[in-house]
Amino acid sequence: MTDRTVDNPFFARVWKTLSSSEPQALRRLRGENLTGLSGRVLEIGAGTGTNFAFYPPTVTEVVAIEPERHLAEVARDAAGLAPVPVTVSSDTAEKFSSVEPFDAVVCSLVLCSIDQPETVLRQLFSIVRPGGELRYL
Ligand SMILES: C[S@@+](CC[C@H](N)C(=O)[O-])C[C@H]1O[C@@H](n2cnc3c(N)ncnc32)[C@H](O)[C@@H]1O
Repeated sequence: MTDRTVDNPFFARVWKTLSSSEPQALRRLRGENLTGLSGRVLEIGAGTGTNFAFYPPTVTEVVAIEPERHLAEVARDAAGLAPVPVTVSSDTAEKFSSVEPFDAVVCSLVLCSIDQPETVLRQLFSIVRPGGELRYL
């Protein structure tokens, strides 16, 4: 399994700008993707944390991973404003592991950034509890 470092300051600058002025249609899809979630959620590659505002109050905790440090900084600020508790860690999807299973895993606009999406997807299914959900946008 690849475990590369994610250090992409150019992409981080571009993504900060793009994600701060998203079309309404994309924001609606973000909301729909998170509707009905509850319990503990893992979000992969959170970027600037644009999804955080859309988590419903039935979610008790979001663990968000964002390995690009410039984006993780912005995501941490967004976590402070989120309607539910969010912590941001710097792990890659490849490296992240958890003893406690999650009720759901959220991937939005992210698997295209990952070298071996099939491998990561298999790993995510092992992290989600039996009967849990993968939400993909
Ligand atoms: C196109 S952005 C999408 C950000 C966010 N999910 C959203 O919906 O706005 C892709 C994100 O995946 C992150 N990423 C890239 N490789 C990753 C990896 N191996 N593990 C976790 N995240 C990764 C990037 O740093 C970036 O923040």
